[in-house]
This record gives sequence, structure tokens and C-alpha cells, in this order.
Amino acid sequence: ARVAVVVPAAGRGERLGGGVPKALRPLGGRPMLVHAVQALAAADLVSQIVVAAPPTLVEVVSRLLGPDVRVLAGGAERVDSVRGALRALDDDIRVVLVHDAARPLTPPSLVDAVAAAVLGGQPAVIPVLPVADTVKEVDAQGRVLRTPTRDGLRAVQTPQGFRREVLEAAYANSDDGPAVTDDAGLVERLGVPVTTIPGAEEAFKVTRPIDLVFAEALLARRPL
Ligand code: CTP
Ligand code: MG
Repeated sequence: ARVAVVVPAAGRGERLGGGVPKALRPLGGRPMLVHAVQALAAADLVSQIVVAAPPTLVEVVSRLLGPDVRVLAGGAERVDSVRGALRALDDDIRVVLVHDAARPLTPPSLVDAVAAAVLGGQPAVIPVLPVADTVKEVDAQGRVLRTPTRDGLRAVQTPQGFRREVLEAAYANSDDGPAVTDDAGLVERLGVPVTTIPGAEEAFKVTRPIDLVFAEALLARRPL
């Protein structure tokens, strides 16, 4: 069964700032998206990569990533970018991973672990880590409603992996909106069981300026 990875990379990176789309923001001299795609290409189980790029930068990104990577225009919200990229999958793809361009230091071993779990029979698999901070549920005024026990909480990373038909059904069913920040959330609504595997610290998402400082430091310490 062949495995594809869809890479949403069309976001503007408003929280990071800096005036360039986040996927093209340099990290160790190369765009974040290039790091992310190289890690995917280095995974043993990946056979197709489809990238949703900022609409005005499709040509630029395509040249950057080379002929083996399919690049198309992303949409207004992350869900739109993923939905568009799903249409570009090869016919014989049976497993689809979705991976944020904004997680440039994700280890190839995590990509393979997610793919292997889906190939092994799980319909939906997500990498997670324990939560370090206590998390509160609050109302619109910031008043605390509840404090869930930290032991029962996990922070979710990507790549998230799915049987192709499960992810396609989830996206056919989705009502979009900026509220959807994670693919597994759409799959959960179908009543399909989602299982977790251990994530990787290096798979953190570059979201704010301090994350870029951390990423640069980690990259500088990497063995070549
Ligand atoms: N993404 C996308 N299309 C969008 C919005 C986001 O492909 N319309 C992608 C981003 O490029 C990123 C991933 O989804 O790789 C995770 O989103 P996030 O970290 O929120 O990135 P941005 O939306 O770019 O950042 P921000 O929310 O701060 O603007
Ligand atoms: Mg965003």
C-alpha cells in the first residue's frame, strides 16, 4: 500500500510575523518548508509528497522542491489547503499523512512510525506528547470554568496518518471554519477511532518568534 504525505504550507504566518509566508522563512539558511519536505523524503515509507503553497508562490515553491514534489495552490484556511491537496493524490495511494510545513525539524523516524501504525491496521493515528503546563478551560471573559486533569491531556503534533478513505470522508463531511486546526478532529466527528503514538520533541511547531530561536539552536547542534 503506497503512502502519501500532504503538506499544508499556504499559511501567512501571522503569529511569527516577519513579512514572508512562514513556509519560506529561512532556518539555517534554507526555507522551513525545504527542511520539512527533506525529512518526509528521507522517511522509508513515503512514496508521494503533495504541497499546498501560498497561491502566488506556487512556481517559486515548485522550483525550490524539485520535480519529485507536486505543488499546488493552497486555500484560505488550513482545511481548504488540505482538501485541495487530497485531490492531487495518485490513484494507488492507500494511506495519507498530513504534515505541517511549520514543523521543520520533525524526525523521519516519526513519519515512518505514523505510517507504519496506519499500515498495521489503525484507521487514524496521531503523535502526541504529555502537556507540560496545566491547561484551563475558560469562558469568553477569561473566567475559569474547569481544570482538566493534566494526566488525561496530550499535545498533538503532525504528521497525522489516516486510511485514505477515512480522511477523504472526513473532509467531505467538514463544514470548514477557522476552528478546525487538526485533521484528526474531523475524523473523530465520523466516530472513527483515533489512536495515539509517542510524538517527538523536535516535531514542535514553529508558531511564534521564540520558536524560531529554539529551532535555530537545535539545527546548529544537529550532527551533519
Ligand atoms: N496552512 C495552510 N493554509 C492555510 C493556513 C495554514 O496550508 N490557509 C498551513 C501553514 O502553512 C502551516 C500549517 O497549516 O504549515 C499549520 O498552520 P499554522 O501554524 O497556524 O500556520 P499559519 O496559519 O501560517 O500561521 P498563523 O496562524 O500564525 O498565521
Ligand atoms: Mg494558522
